[in-house]
Amino acid sequence: MGFFNNLFKAKTAAYFDYTSISVDMHSHLIPGIDDGSKSLEETKALLLKFVDLGYQKVITTPHIMQDFYKNDRDNIYRGRDEVLALIAKENIPIKFEAAAEHFYDDAFMERIKKKEVLTFGNQFCLLEFGFHHQPSFEDAMFFNLLSAGYQPILAHFERYHYFHGSIEKALEYREKGISIQLNINSLSGNYGPDVKKQAVKLIQADAVDFIASDCHRMSHLDMMKSLQGNELLQKLNLTQLKNKDLL
Ligand SMILES: [Fe+2]
Repeated sequence: MGFFNNLFKAKTAAYFDYTSISVDMHSHLIPGIDDGSKSLEETKALLLKFVDLGYQKVITTPHIMQDFYKNDRDNIYRGRDEVLALIAKENIPIKFEAAAEHFYDDAFMERIKKKEVLTFGNQFCLLEFGFHHQPSFEDAMFFNLLSAGYQPILAHFERYHYFHGSIEKALEYREKGISIQLNINSLSGNYGPDVKKQAVKLIQADAVDFIASDCHRMSHLDMMKSLQGNELLQKLNLTQLKNKDLL
């Protein structure tokens, strides 16, 4: 009986289909400007893999971080144009845009003042906190950002260890109009068991607004492919996810 049950389960195993997401809005595909893709060749292979997974559009988000990655609108858009030329030349069936993953530092506060935040969709701004220290005065920063007309998205909430144990902060942020983004690969345990636990909590509380690859290299997309049978991924409330609105 057990054997037949298992056979039945295997045959009807659910499968998460990335075409239901269609748009990835967090990755590092502009060659040579951060810790992501190192060459146009690598970017080409990654884009083909996104197509293979079922994506229709990739919005790539190079790091802007004053101490490590001094990127700005000019070099990011120049890189984007090179990738767009590659896509046209190679006939890769995918839409491509670029914005940034802004790090919360002093330079970011200046960018808000000068209205130099790089956005996608309807003024969405992808923002990350430091991994080592809990941010200070972030309420004031979010207030400034929202008042300037931006729609903040907090990158990979589940990865900040200082929030582990509770998703209270995510719920609080969402109340204020800040979207929460989850890295799909957090469900694999790739970033550790605590990150996975936090990802599970976010999904169970229906507190995820965007999911993303945070792709830096091919292994990230391979991992996403291997997660397609993942039950938690299948439990995501697709009607709440805003990825598709960015098509
Ligand atoms: Fe990232």
